[in-house]
Amino acid sequence: MFDHAVAASVALDADREVLLSLRDVGKSYGSTQILRRISFDVGKGEFAVVLGPSGSGKSTLFRCITRLEEPSEGTIHYEGLCVNTLNRRDLAHLRSRIGFVFQQFNLIKRLSVLDNVLTGRLARAPLWRVTCRSFSTADRQLALGCLDAVGMLEFAYRRVDGLSGGQQQRVAIARALAQQSHTIIADEPIASLDPESALQVMQILKRVAHDYGITVLCSLHQVDYALRMADRIIGMQAGRIVVDKPAHDVSAEDTRSIYASLGAG
Ligand SMILES: Nc1ncnc2c1ncn2[C@@H]1O[C@H](COP(=O)(O)OP(=O)(O)OP(=O)(O)O)[C@@H](O)[C@H]1O
Ligand SMILES: [Mg+2]
Repeated sequence: MFDHAVAASVALDADREVLLSLRDVGKSYGSTQILRRISFDVGKGEFAVVLGPSGSGKSTLFRCITRLEEPSEGTIHYEGLCVNTLNRRDLAHLRSRIGFVFQQFNLIKRLSVLDNVLTGRLARAPLWRVTCRSFSTADRQLALGCLDAVGMLEFAYRRVDGLSGGQQQRVAIARALAQQSHTIIADEPIASLDPESALQVMQILKRVAHDYGITVLCSLHQVDYALRMADRIIGMQAGRIVVDKPAHDVSAEDTRSIYASLGAG
């Protein structure tokens, strides 16, 4: 039987500073349990990929971490703070310090690439500041630096709606970097991309983790990319963690256990 507490301590390198810590997190909708006793620690600069069949609870887990969904049980600590007990203001502050990247990019299409990245500086400011471009020179320089980091500097003044999916996702990552958050949560960031763009985005996420020390928690359906790129695999099956180990230690048997309900293997 999988021992969550042991796995959490084994999977995390001993010398890594813990950034995010979950203990026995559960989520139910009515009588339906979606997440069951989820426990793990994620370290600073770690690139962890969550794998699991559709409906296994990956997005729900990500939403519980910042209480976009209220966990039904368990505790979540982020940078030493107990997320469960944060008041509205502190919770908003926490969310502004975590960058989110989604399958659908979630960019403002009619704005330029640079203005989209600048929105990362204004997590809770009104849209008029964005549309009036009332940003400081320091903010602009930071945003341009973030675009450079994802290889999109030359597109800074283009409108987003003229970009490919892969380019848009790189802009979304630049926006998350502009928040200067210590963590990026990416929910299926490559699901709608062609293989080459998907690889580029995964390489950027890996670099973000390893070069900038930003923790990346990413859900994927592509097992091959996960095993190739991630430091660590957290495998979910019907709301439970069934695998939690360094990516290079994940066996075919582990993969089968994650996708067991689909009859994989
Ligand atoms: N608001 C809700 N009310 C009731 N059930 C919900 C709600 N949100 C999610 N669920 C259920 O929770 C389960 C987990 O959903 P979730 O979206 O977290 O899965 P997932 O692993 O992200 O799937 P996918 O790979 O398809 O994105 C699903 O069975 C879903 O129907
Ligand atoms: Mg999902």
